[in-house]
Amino acid sequence: MIYLDNAATSFYRPPQVAEAVVQAMTSLGNAARGTHGAAMAGARAVFEARQTLADFFGAEGPEQVAFTANATESLNMAVKGLLNPGDTAVTTVMEHNSVLRPLYEMEAKGVNLKMISTDAVGRLDMEAMKRAVFSGAAAVFCTHASNLTGNVNDIRQIGRWCREAGAVFVVDASQSGGILPIHMKEDFIDVLCFTGHKGLMGPQGTGGICLRKGIFIRPLVTGGSGIKTFDRKHPEVMPEALEAGTLNGHGIRGLKAGVDYIQRIGIDEIFRKENVLARAFYDRVCEIPGIRIYGDFENPVRIPVIALNLGDEDSGRVSDWLAVEGDICTRSGGHCAPLMHRAFGTESQGMVRFSFSSFNTMEDVKAAAAALKNYE
Ligand code: ALA
Repeated sequence: MIYLDNAATSFYRPPQVAEAVVQAMTSLGNAARGTHGAAMAGARAVFEARQTLADFFGAEGPEQVAFTANATESLNMAVKGLLNPGDTAVTTVMEHNSVLRPLYEMEAKGVNLKMISTDAVGRLDMEAMKRAVFSGAAAVFCTHASNLTGNVNDIRQIGRWCREAGAVFVVDASQSGGILPIHMKEDFIDVLCFTGHKGLMGPQGTGGICLRKGIFIRPLVTGGSGIKTFDRKHPEVMPEALEAGTLNGHGIRGLKAGVDYIQRIGIDEIFRKENVLARAFYDRVCEIPGIRIYGDFENPVRIPVIALNLGDEDSGRVSDWLAVEGDICTRSGGHCAPLMHRAFGTESQGMVRFSFSSFNTMEDVKAAAAALKNYE
């Protein structure tokens, strides 16, 4: 099998991740639910993971990292927990449904939604973004990188504008975490939403939300937190404020192992390797007659995602053919990115997306490109 669907989820992971999960499952009690040895081991494991993630993303401290099941949960928390009727929220056509759908729900409750568009190759209109930020935005919800085109947004610039304008800056790092450096302080990020199972190489069912100190988000879910049991209200201190119920300690341990691996190898090296593969694939397929490749390939800073179409062929048919004939895994269809597809006019055709990991090889690239050339 040639796995080129890493933007959907990592498949090849460092062995330490699975080992950490197994080790956790056989040794950890419930974090923050007692003082016996097993419970303390659970608490320690979760704390160490918070510390690792805080260091990795430049958050102000381990307590500013709350764990969730995935980026969708984190983004729902951010959208629904920050906005109030009458607020103006700014977002982009590059967003995933995990941002758009919660925003549409809030729009129905009286939030004024401003959508920033892209140019012909899917680059964000930064002038329109700047104008929107300075026109009374309460919050800006922006992806770091498109899961469809691989284009990367200049989040530091948008963050700087938000800080100046007093808008809360929420970044979706689902596709960039573990691939591109992110530093909450240096990038002026107030709320960072991440998933664990993609670039961070952790297990599915892990993710989190990091808050700058002073930012308050109404919780999406309330319940047991292990502290302040006799209060009727869920605790407002981080991280408990955004965590209710038993954490996925086993998965969180695996997530930490994934991030430890990235830190050992170096994020720059991972980025370099993935982009060599993606660029080699692009160079091999761009001459195929009738091919359309979507995205900005002038900019060297991209995530390793290449979405394309072969003439008018249905993307699902191409993706299925690659799977059946070559055991090549890609993702077709709409990729939960409806507005990006609308911008490219590919709502009915979809696109075939190839996404690379540092565990892929040049042999994978050659085989996938050759298969695409032979498509029939
Ligand atoms: N959001 C994920 C993707 O882009 C699942 O495929």
